Amino acid sequence: MQVVRLSLPLRAVSRFVADAARLAEAASLPAMPEAAIEPMTVADVAGVLRIEASSPESSGWDEAQLRGELDRTWAHLWVIRRRGHVQAFLAAWLVADELHVLNVATDPGHRRKGHAHALLLHALAFAAGRGVRLVLLEVRRGNAGAIALYRRIGFVAMGLRARYYSNDEDALEMVLRLDPDTGKVLPGQDEVRV
Ligand SMILES: CC(C)(COP(=O)(O)OP(=O)(O)OC[C@H]1O[C@@H](n2cnc3c(N)ncnc32)[C@H](O)[C@@H]1OP(=O)(O)O)[C@@H](O)C(=O)NCCC(=O)NCCS
Repeated sequence: MQVVRLSLPLRAVSRFVADAARLAEAASLPAMPEAAIEPMTVADVAGVLRIEASSPESSGWDEAQLRGELDRTWAHLWVIRRRGHVQAFLAAWLVADELHVLNVATDPGHRRKGHAHALLLHALAFAAGRGVRLVLLEVRRGNAGAIALYRRIGFVAMGLRARYYSNDEDALEMVLRLDPDTGKVLPGQDEVRV
């Protein structure tokens, strides 16, 4: 794994993103004392798998898949850690000028506290710093909570993949465009009905 040496308090991440991508709502992150966004390591595998096991809407990675991602040079994985415990994680691939968000999940006991939002802003700041133009992801069409989260960040619906998931649920393809020179989020419009 290509380690991104970032270990910032969430408020600092929020300020950086506000500068890099001018996401106006970044300033609204709640205070999470002692919590930090850090690169995921093999020591986090058990904690991440616990979150995966309690999040049926997520990618359903097993240990081998997760360890595989940690080994890929183009994969970037972060956790929110507080007092040694993983509370949330995000995994993405940086491929040319695109960032593909593969997986994001928060421990059910820590949801609606801004964790996934903070991780996504962190990933956007990372992407903005590397000239990324497109941030892409797929989400279950029925996953209203995740879709609301992505919309709040600025993602729009780009397309549908019919029966993409093993239970035949459709995938909604979402995209966020960044200005590669300024890191600003560019406004977009849905191309399919959500
Ligand atoms: C979707 C998920 C990652 C959100 O994580 P989270 O840390 O609770 O999200 P946040 O607290 O950062 O939410 C930020 C905003 O997103 C929106 N949002 C998040 N979860 C939501 C939900 N269940 N219903 C409606 N809106 C939601 C809200 O606008 C929220 O702001 P608010 O709490 O001030 O209203 C979490 O519910 C989860 O792990 N789900 C299972 C895995 C999953 O679905 N992953 C996405 C795969 S594509």
